[in-house]
Amino acid sequence: MINKCLFPAAGYGTRFLPATKATPKEMLPILTKPLIQYGVEEAVRAGINTMAIVSGRGKRAIEDHFDISYELEHQIKGGSKETLLDEIRGLISNCTFSYTRQLEIRGLGHAILTGETLIGKESFAIILADDLCHNENKGVLEQMIEVYERYQCSVVAIEEIPMEQTHKYGVIAGKLVDGTDDTYRITDMVEKPDPKDAPSNLAIIGRYILTPDIFDILRETKAGKGGEIQITDALMTQAKEGRVIAYKFKGKRFDCGSVDGFVEATNWFYDKLK
Ligand code: G1P
Repeated sequence: MINKCLFPAAGYGTRFLPATKATPKEMLPILTKPLIQYGVEEAVRAGINTMAIVSGRGKRAIEDHFDISYELEHQIKGGSKETLLDEIRGLISNCTFSYTRQLEIRGLGHAILTGETLIGKESFAIILADDLCHNENKGVLEQMIEVYERYQCSVVAIEEIPMEQTHKYGVIAGKLVDGTDDTYRITDMVEKPDPKDAPSNLAIIGRYILTPDIFDILRETKAGKGGEIQITDALMTQAKEGRVIAYKFKGKRFDCGSVDGFVEATNWFYDKLK
């Protein structure tokens, strides 16, 4: 069972300045919902209702979003707009939200280690809210939990990317397992390699399921690419023991950390409504 989902949400979102100067990037909306709400909904669809958020300075809007707003609710009560809050109210009443602050920005690995206090000694999921994933029938995290239940080790979601984009992602090499065409046992992984050094065009996207020994590994992991503590490097320690599976998920992903991806997601969700 996976009971908890960690949301690293301390990053500055510099690609969206000035919009992210006083607004957390996780609160940027695709249509009327902020990115992090899509992530929480994906976790809930996967059977998770304990959300652990690694936050930071300037991120209080996230806490306020997942809380009751008495004045607002009083103001719109009985009117036509009241139903607009139904979804978020449902999430708030079905989930718990816990927060801890990452004091310095030192990489995704460091953010995940900061979340240890909220996770403890159990396997857990991670959603990077700026990777917005969609599958009508079965959410990406729900698919990954099935893979975790089968292999009982860490799982990363992967996608084929054009070779010239390898410098933006963790990139894996692996062997297909059990006659599948979508599930690999990882043999190598490199953080943001140049295309000439990339072991494949299979990129890790912002969905992980990790076993709790990752925290001890992260404590020992030295700064890597960009001088930051990389989850990719820590996962390589598990991969050397054959303990990381890469799963090519079914569905769509939008890189909402980039303006192009954000606009693409906005248009796609808008068209879907019509
Ligand atoms: C992080 C990881 C990278 C992964 C990516 C997925 O990079 O370090 O391995 O491929 O998330 O979104 P970031 O996008 O935070 O630079």
